[in-house]
Amino acid sequence: MTYLDHAATTPLRASAREAWLAAAEEVGNPSSLHAAGRRARAIVEDARERIAAALGADAPEVILTSGGTEADNLAIKGLHWGRLAQEASRRDVVVSAVEHHAVLDPARWLAERGDADLVELPVDPTGCLEQGALAAAVGPATSLVSVMWANNEVGAVQPVADVVAAARAHGVPVHADAVQAVPYLDVHLHRAGLDAMTVSAHKVGGPVGVGALLARRGLPLVPLAHGGGQQRSVRSGTLDAPGAAAFAAALDEAVAERSAESARLERLRARLAEALRAHLPEATLSGPADPAHRLPGIVHLVVPGARAESVLFLLDAAGIAASSGSACTAGVVQSSHVAMAMGWPADDAACTVRLSLGRTSSEEDVAAVVAALPDAVARARAASGR
Ligand SMILES: Cc1ncc(COP(=O)(O)O)c(C=O)c1O
Repeated sequence: MTYLDHAATTPLRASAREAWLAAAEEVGNPSSLHAAGRRARAIVEDARERIAAALGADAPEVILTSGGTEADNLAIKGLHWGRLAQEASRRDVVVSAVEHHAVLDPARWLAERGDADLVELPVDPTGCLEQGALAAAVGPATSLVSVMWANNEVGAVQPVADVVAAARAHGVPVHADAVQAVPYLDVHLHRAGLDAMTVSAHKVGGPVGVGALLARRGLPLVPLAHGGGQQRSVRSGTLDAPGAAAFAAALDEAVAERSAESARLERLRARLAEALRAHLPEATLSGPADPAHRLPGIVHLVVPGARAESVLFLLDAAGIAASSGSACTAGVVQSSHVAMAMGWPADDAACTVRLSLGRTSSEEDVAAVVAALPDAVARARAASGR
């Protein structure tokens, strides 16, 4: 199989599997006081320290969760409710229009139930925040700002430093979803000046179902789940020692190889993009052109007339795993909210293909997709009468 869907999930690292298995041999509940419990607790706290060190945070700032989705929900709902309790007049939740649904949907939900006023920041045609949009949107009514570090569909890297500076001027906390950024960019909570940041294990070669919200001390977070009071009652639930250990192992490796891997993928991506321009001229390569403003491994195509579900089905039949980057319901790809925010009409925004390279990607993978994609596109277009 040619696997070109690393942004969806990337293969489990051997180190993560070993760390998971070793921790799973320990029987204790990390909250139990006996020796077995303390051993399990030591595994969790060691992992917490390593996760913090890898991401520029302090260990007590790492709130382990069931993944990026839960961490994003805690950041949006938990932080907004916490801020409202402090200052009821701060009702505006400010997010970019290209956030992952794990941020966008809780923000919209807060607005729908009357808890917040939602401000969605526009992006330019490459998917990067419009210059000045944030400065105009943030003010005395702002509760929080959430702008993703890097976009999962088109790979656009957002100007986190500018976002932090604009929000700081009004005393507004900033959350960034760094799920896609961590494997490739120098992600550091404190250096970035962020108040909260979401990370997920399965995007760095750890297991699915593990992640964390990194949150500065003193940030008002209302818990979403109530129960045993673990993790200072912000996130109750029996601590997942194997998951935490595996996450830490994967993250250590991913960070150690980050710059070499980013450079390698950038070269591979350049060859893929060049070949697609030559063999698939009807496709538009979207997202930022400048490598400084995008992730190294994502190629995002808009091919008007070639519906994503048809192209992906035909690629799959040719042994190639790719994605549209957008949500899929009952086998039909929805028009991508990211592509639409970038200015594509809804019809074209249902005709996107995301090829995401990663750790196992090779020249052969590039050659395979370049050989298969033009035919898949031609057949998909014929099926839709284009
Ligand atoms: C940018 C971004 N945020 C959040 C998530 C959700 O993370 P998880 O799959 O760990 O719930 C993803 C996963 O696709 C993502 O790409």
